Amino acid sequence: MSEKIPFTSPSVSDLEKRYLLEALESRHLSGDGAFTKRCHLWMKDHLKTPHALLTHSCTAALEMAALLLNLQPGDEVIMPSFTFVSTANAVALRGAIPVFVDVRPDTLNIDENKIAKAITAKTKAIFVVHYAGVSAEMDTIKRIAGSIPIVEDAAQALLSKYKGQPLGSIGDIGCISFHETKNIVSGEGGALLTRNEKFGQRAEILREKGTNRSQFFRGQVDKYTWVDLGSSYLPSDILAALLLAQLERAQAITTARLEIWQNYFDAFKQLAAIGVTLPTIPPECEHNAHIFYLLTRSLAERTELTTYLKEVGIQAPFHYVPLHSSPGGKRFGRAADEMTVTNDISDRLIRLPLFADLTSHERVINRVLEFYGFQQARRI
Ligand SMILES: Cc1ncc(COP(=O)(O)O)c(C=O)c1O
Repeated sequence: MSEKIPFTSPSVSDLEKRYLLEALESRHLSGDGAFTKRCHLWMKDHLKTPHALLTHSCTAALEMAALLLNLQPGDEVIMPSFTFVSTANAVALRGAIPVFVDVRPDTLNIDENKIAKAITAKTKAIFVVHYAGVSAEMDTIKRIAGSIPIVEDAAQALLSKYKGQPLGSIGDIGCISFHETKNIVSGEGGALLTRNEKFGQRAEILREKGTNRSQFFRGQVDKYTWVDLGSSYLPSDILAALLLAQLERAQAITTARLEIWQNYFDAFKQLAAIGVTLPTIPPECEHNAHIFYLLTRSLAERTELTTYLKEVGIQAPFHYVPLHSSPGGKRFGRAADEMTVTNDISDRLIRLPLFADLTSHERVINRVLEFYGFQQARRI
């Protein structure tokens, strides 16, 4: 059998190795060293945000967002159910209630037209997820939110844009992931972004165990002490070294992914005629090719396709089990509506291998077309 094609695999170059060695040789192994500072500068510059702080995960950044918003027991937070558990857990950890809203059938992002109905006197925030690195309808969501703060779960959305603005820098707080499965990685890693001065200052304290240690290192106070709630949310400078190399290569990695994504899209367009759905990229969105998915015609068809691809050595997983139907979601949250679209698309979605160094995506194309009885795109 030909070589197995994994679903994802990080891109590693000599630059990552060089920076990692430099970090080790610098003997600054804890957080907030020279590499972390360089990552902060990169993010402020490329993501157009005055405050950017590395965290050890996007989960940590989401938990910081919940702390920054002072979420209290019984408060409600609107979010999609078609998301990773961390979006909801950050809220539930504060005793607040995730209120799940259905997604749009085209972008699979929170349906902006269903948000207003879910808002109550207890609504304290809206957590938006940019699925597959494609933006939610931010202008409409901002208009509906009014003074309710918006947190962007931009875990998958580094270098994606909405009307020219980088995702993560549009809402009040943005959270990014650099987990190994993302486009730009440090193994585990994340970042919190904000344009809000007060959030920016407080985030620095929450991230450093609730102390004003960062001010102390800048010489702004003569000793540091416990001043607020907090935890240890910062990554080691070793991981920041790995991340800096990735950030410096971010555009090249994204371009390589976009090319594969587009090849998939062009090859599978013909499947639309038999009812297989391809991703939608609204004209105001620039995406980063984080995920290429297909929506099969039924759950049974997805199971068959997954099994078929597995047999020929291609890993093609489904994605989220909707949170409203999970044990945790039932215990800590509630669904605001019927969740018809979420239930439907989560049963039919299949993700295809996509990573910068994927050289054999034509094999994936041919196998999928073969499954559907279509002519193969190219010879392998
Ligand atoms: C939408 C979303 N939010 C949050 C996370 C959590 O990211 P991390 O693993 O960096 O904590 C993920 C990771 O898959 C995600 O997809």
